[in-house]
Amino acid sequence: MKNKFEKNILCIGAGYVGGPTMAMIAAKCPQYKVTIVDINEQKIKAWCSDNLPIYEPGLLDVVRTARGRNLFFSTEIEQNIREAEIIFVSVNTPTKSFGEGAGKSADLQYWEKTARNILKASDSDKIIVEKSTLPVRTAGAMERILNSNDKGIVFDVVSNPEFLAEGTAIIDLEYPDRVLIGSHETERGRQARQEIVDIYANWVPRERIITSNIWSSELSKLVSNAFLAQRVSSINSISALCEVTEADVHEVARAVGHDTRIGSKFLHASVGFGGSCFKKDILNLVYISESFGLTEVADYWESVVRINDYQEKRFVLKIIRTMFNTIADKRIAMFGFAFKANTGDTRESPGIYIARQLLDEKAHVIISDPQALQNAQLDMAGIPGKIEYEIDPYKAAEGAHAIALITEWDVYRDLDYKKIFASMEKPAFIFDGRNILNHQKLYEIGFNVYPIGKRALTRI
Ligand code: UDX
Ligand code: ADP
Repeated sequence: MKNKFEKNILCIGAGYVGGPTMAMIAAKCPQYKVTIVDINEQKIKAWCSDNLPIYEPGLLDVVRTARGRNLFFSTEIEQNIREAEIIFVSVNTPTKSFGEGAGKSADLQYWEKTARNILKASDSDKIIVEKSTLPVRTAGAMERILNSNDKGIVFDVVSNPEFLAEGTAIIDLEYPDRVLIGSHETERGRQARQEIVDIYANWVPRERIITSNIWSSELSKLVSNAFLAQRVSSINSISALCEVTEADVHEVARAVGHDTRIGSKFLHASVGFGGSCFKKDILNLVYISESFGLTEVADYWESVVRINDYQEKRFVLKIIRTMFNTIADKRIAMFGFAFKANTGDTRESPGIYIARQLLDEKAHVIISDPQALQNAQLDMAGIPGKIEYEIDPYKAAEGAHAIALITEWDVYRDLDYKKIFASMEKPAFIFDGRNILNHQKLYEIGFNVYPIGKRALTRI
């Protein structure tokens, strides 16, 4: 029996990208059947419950709008591949940790396995949409695998990179700055591209849907992330300079950002950028540039990652030096572990490096975070040293010698720091890795305050 839906859309990979993106498509397009499959049974179970596998503000409401109506989650991959006309692929593409290109190029094993699964299960033509971030020209490899079949089936590969940021995924999906869809500039390619344009046109204004050739689309995703990360590294490099010149990084960012050619966003100095995309995508860009012999281009982009490593290292060194060059047996409370606020995601979080370094110095580390403690425990598993996990920041800071603020959660802005100060060892230190606290007020309470890119307020 033919089902009542206009299109059968499948998404392979129910992670941070696939889950929210497909939930939004389903919520906005009740005329399409949207199914999301994953090899991870636990994850699929969680997507079917009210305890979703990822924390993302507003996501549960969107899922609830469509779940059971035209949004379905499943571990039945083959059957769903067979039934789909359009397949979005959003499996993970981490940085390769072994062999040729280790540490830089993308590990495409999940992608390739998916392509082979699609090939095996299909018995009709399909449009395959690359959603995961991939190195440029991956679509070419996918096409070769998919179209190497003797079943007479044709697969059209389209690139539709996702630009959502975690913590604001729902707003980003509902009101995107742009949706990018790349395809081959052939009759078939353009037709496939139009099919994907038609999906987004259900809610995204047409002028925000950009089309391009497939390689431009793949590269644009890497370049967007590289440019964003470059802004963070630029201001972070200046924060080091501010600390030695008594300039204030916040004032510098404001003055610079008022130039409309530069703009004010993404100029918040921090302990360093994290997240699954920035580092991975830049290293991808570096690897591609190197493999084409473009050494200067590779060096240029690699320096963005180097500055980020430097910023994380600087933060730890500041803690150690300030606390009389020894933190052995001192309790240090980390406020926040997620790579940014409003997510439980800790992938590439500066918190991981910082916690490891503090433990290496034999400090007693207490990690606090409203959403990321579970992931923090996975990240820190097997690492020797004294480590505790405590969701309540007041308890985490009790008896601590220092607080290191890693994530800009709102909850940390409005704590009763008088009460916290009273419960801490003296002298009490606070290292604000996000510049979100009222430094003058903390100083008046009695803290020694160390912001990023600003003069420290100290009593010692
Ligand atoms: C990023 C891109 O923004 C998004 O378009 C892409 O799809 C995926 O990668 P995400 O990693 O979720 O999104 O978060 P983002 O808001 O970009 O922040 C990345 C990191 O930079 C975070 O650690 C954040 O705290 C840090 N950051 C950001 C700063 O330190 N300062 C800033 O001014 C902005
Ligand atoms: P992202 O942030 O890119 O969404 P995630 O790691 O959150 O990355 O999600 C990727 C998902 O893809 C994971 O849930 C993983 O289990 C799933 N996955 C990986 N390989 C396959 C596969 N061959 N078939 C189905 N799902 C897969």
